[in-house]
Amino acid sequence: MTQNNKEYMLEMLHISKSFPGVKALDDVTLRVRPGTVHALMGENGAGKSTLMKCLFGLYTPDTGEIYLNGQAIQFDNPRQALDAGISMIHQELHPIPHRNVMENMWLGRYPQRKFGPISLVDHAKMFADTKKLMDDLQMEINPKTRVGELSVSHIQSMEIAKAVSYNSKIIIMDEPTSSLTETEVAHLFRIINGLRAKGVSIIYISHKMEEILQISDDVTIMRDGKHVGTWLAKELTIDLIINRMVGRDLTHRFPPKNNVPAQTLMKVDKLTSTFPKSFKNVSFELRRGEVLGIGGLVGAQRTELVEAIFGLRSVASGTITINDQPVTIHSPVDAKRHKIALLTEERRVSGIIPTMSVHDNTIIANLKKYSNRFGFINYALCRKDVDENIARLRVKTPTVKTLIANLSGGNQQKVLLARWLLTEPDVLILDEPTRGIDVGAKFEIYSLIFELANMGKAVIVISSEMPELLGVSDRILVMSMGQAAGILNRQDADQEKIMRLATQFV
Ligand SMILES: Nc1ncnc2c1ncn2[C@@H]1O[C@H](COP(=O)(O)OP(=O)(O)OP(=O)(O)O)[C@@H](O)[C@H]1O
Ligand SMILES: [Mg+2]
Repeated sequence: MTQNNKEYMLEMLHISKSFPGVKALDDVTLRVRPGTVHALMGENGAGKSTLMKCLFGLYTPDTGEIYLNGQAIQFDNPRQALDAGISMIHQELHPIPHRNVMENMWLGRYPQRKFGPISLVDHAKMFADTKKLMDDLQMEINPKTRVGELSVSHIQSMEIAKAVSYNSKIIIMDEPTSSLTETEVAHLFRIINGLRAKGVSIIYISHKMEEILQISDDVTIMRDGKHVGTWLAKELTIDLIINRMVGRDLTHRFPPKNNVPAQTLMKVDKLTSTFPKSFKNVSFELRRGEVLGIGGLVGAQRTELVEAIFGLRSVASGTITINDQPVTIHSPVDAKRHKIALLTEERRVSGIIPTMSVHDNTIIANLKKYSNRFGFINYALCRKDVDENIARLRVKTPTVKTLIANLSGGNQQKVLLARWLLTEPDVLILDEPTRGIDVGAKFEIYSLIFELANMGKAVIVISSEMPELLGVSDRILVMSMGQAAGILNRQDADQEKIMRLATQFV
C-alpha cells in the first residue's frame, strides 16, 4: 500500500528503533495535519529526537511506515529529506565557527557562477540572498560575521533562518528556543505563525510548557519510547501534560527549600572586564549556604561575568576575595584550586567530550582525586563515584561505558552536572543549568541545588526563566548591560521588579 490518508501532511506509523541496550522507539505513531504546529513532548530520553531523525533520514527505523501527503517515503540521508521538503533545526547545533554566517547558511549548496567551463562560488549572490532572508525574518545578523563570534542565541536564530531558507513544507524544530530571549521567542512565534498561514507544518519540540500551549495546535506526548497520545492543545493544561509525560502526578515544580545562608564566602568587588562593552563595576557577596540567582536579559553579560570569575576571561580591574583572602584567578586551573566550579551554558562548545564515554566525561575534571602519586588511577573508586552520581541524577543511559554523544540532550546536561559535583566545589556556578531539561529532572536539579546549599556550599544560578530564578534563589542579582542594576531579596522579588532592573541601563 503506497496510498494513505490525505488528511495528514505526514504520517509516521508503528515506528520502532533500537540502539544497543535501548529500545528508543516502540511502535510510535505521529500524524501531522497541514498548516499546523504539532508539539512533540516527553521527558529526556523519551525518544523525540530519535523519531525526528528517523523522519529526516539520519536513522533508518527498524519497523514502521512513513507517508508524506499520502505517499510512502523512506529517506536514506538528510539530502533526500530536504529535497522532499522537510528541514530540521537540530537540538545540538554544530555550526562551523571559523566560517561566516552566509557560508554556514548555504553550506553544501553555495550559489555558483559559470565562467565558461569553470564555475565559482557567487559570493555576491550568497550575500544578497542571506541579507534578504535576514531582512524578511527581521533578524539583525550580519551575513559576514564569523559564526564563532555570535552568541548562542544568534546561532540559534541563524539555524532558524537556515531551516526557513529551504522553503520546506515541514520544518522540524528540536528545542529551537532553548537559548533565545523572551523577545526572540516572540519573534520566532511570529515567524512560525507566518509559515503556518502559508500551509507549512511545524513539528515543535520543547520542554517549555507555556510555549507549547501558546504556539501549538496539536500535542503528541511520548514516554519511554512509546506514544502516549495526541490531543488538541486547547484541551490540555500544564498539569495534564506533566501528568501524561511522567505518568504520575507532579504537584510541585520546586522542592521544599530550607537552606540557611551563613557567613560570607566570596566577595566580588567592582569587577570590570578588559572589554569596554562587557561587564563593569560588578560587586556582590556570596554566602555559604546561599543560592544567588543572576537575572537579566541576553546581552546583560551574565555569562561573561561568571566566566571571568572562573578564569576564562580577563579582567581589567576589581578584586575577588574568598574567606577574606584576595585571590587571583587567571585560568580555570586557578579557579579549581580555589574550589570554584562552573557548569557552562553551551555544552557542545565547552562541555561534553563527544568521543568519550559517560564514565570518562564524568570523571575528567577530577582525575587528581583518582590518581595516586605515581599516576595510577583507582578505577574502582572512579566507578563507584560515577555510579552514585548517575543514579542520583537519574541519567538515562544503557551503561556508563556508552558514548556520551549517544545520550539524549537533557541527559548529557546531567552528566556535566555530575562532573562538577565530583570536584566538590565550595562555589558552584551554574549557567542555565536546566536548559533542555524536562520537568521531572528539573525538580531533581533544584533538589540538588538546595542539598548543596544545605551542605554549606555557595551556589550561583544564572537563569533566563523568571519562575526558576524566583523559585531557587535566596537573593537575585539583576544585571543590565554589563552592570549590576540591583540585588533583590527573595521575599521582595517578583517578575516585575526583576524586569524593571534588567532594563535599567538599556
Ligand atoms: N545514536 C544512539 N546510540 C545509542 N543510543 C541512542 C542514540 N540516540 C539516542 N539514543 C538513546 O535513545 C533514547 C531516546 O533518545 P532521544 O535523544 O530521542 O531522547 P529525547 O526525547 O530527544 O530527549 P531530550 O529531551 O533529552 O532531548 C535515549 O535513551 C538515548 O540514550
Ligand atoms: Mg532530544
